Amino acid sequence: MSALLDLALPFARLLDPETAHGLAIRSLACLPPRAVPQDDARLAVAAFGLRFPNPVGLAAGFDKEAQVPDAMLGAGFGFVEVGTLTPLPQPGNPRPRNFRLTEDRAVINRYGFNSGGHGPAKARLTARRGRPGIVGVNVGANKEASDRVADYVAGIKTFAGLASYFTANVSSPNTPGLRDLQEERALDELLARIIEARNEAAPGVPLLLKIAPDLALPHLDGVVQVARRRGIDGLIVSNTTISRPPTLRSAHKGETGGLSGRPLFPLATRMLAETYVRADGAFPLIGAGGIDSPETALAKIEAGASLIQLYSALVYEGLGLAERIKAGLSTRLAHEKLPLAALVGRKAAMRVAEPFPA
Ligand code: FNR
Repeated sequence: MSALLDLALPFARLLDPETAHGLAIRSLACLPPRAVPQDDARLAVAAFGLRFPNPVGLAAGFDKEAQVPDAMLGAGFGFVEVGTLTPLPQPGNPRPRNFRLTEDRAVINRYGFNSGGHGPAKARLTARRGRPGIVGVNVGANKEASDRVADYVAGIKTFAGLASYFTANVSSPNTPGLRDLQEERALDELLARIIEARNEAAPGVPLLLKIAPDLALPHLDGVVQVARRRGIDGLIVSNTTISRPPTLRSAHKGETGGLSGRPLFPLATRMLAETYVRADGAFPLIGAGGIDSPETALAKIEAGASLIQLYSALVYEGLGLAERIKAGLSTRLAHEKLPLAALVGRKAAMRVAEPFPA
């Protein structure tokens, strides 16, 4: 299946990115269900009380509306995060709002949480209930919400019983003011309320927080402190960046929105390592940002990620990427004669000693 879609990739690139993505989702939704591939036992990861068959996850934003989680598990991902979902439907920002930066192997998007809201996604996840595979639900707030925290609470209540884990996304740059929820006091209140909602509606289901790579380090100190104090189950580091590294060459580099893909790798990986040293083993981390090969996947793990997620590289590498990364990681583990867990964070201290990425 992924081979077929990989074949279609050069043609998809002739279309505008949002049209191409819509077509990919529709094609995946039409394909007959495929058995989840059996993974090398060396790739299994125990984290947040869950057992992941492999560490390679699909990041939020690809399957915003929970249309194709099983197809993506069938493509070899060890877990799939759907969303971001907001309670009410909303159109998001005007098109065009998604841009390929081909020369940079990057993407800039400013979708702004466009979706049909909780309802349709809940119906789809209810229809797949009981199927195997780890499917996390990433929740957010409507642009016009008067009480943003209440929107996150509603997400947890709505998807209780359907989500293998929850992610509270406070780091999208495309909803004005959303990232202010990372401020220490606001974050403390958010975490108190969503942890309470989780404890009531979905006890035992892991609750993660997804943060921006653009936090200043003293601010990251506060985020990790609050997360530890409140007992969050893990952090995802990171979302897209509003920064624009000086290396960017593509015509679209000046577009407003969040940058992802290869140029995000140095910053996101540094922030991951910075988070790892601050978390000090209190919870596991998921590393995202610029993973496009077994080598970059391994570097994320060594910087502190127990699990990884990717999205942008699928645009350039195709759906076979998950299998290629797993194969590369397996070979490496066999060579090193070490369990995957032994690699997690072993180069974090080294990374935080390097000059900060531009
Ligand atoms: C995203 N990402 C994202 N994250 C999130 O939490 N909710 C979302 O709705 C979206 N939407 C979204 C759309 C598009 C087009 C892209 C490219 C990305 C961010 C994504 O999950 C991930 O954190 C970053 O893109 C970094 O990983 P990659 O893309 O560099 O592998």
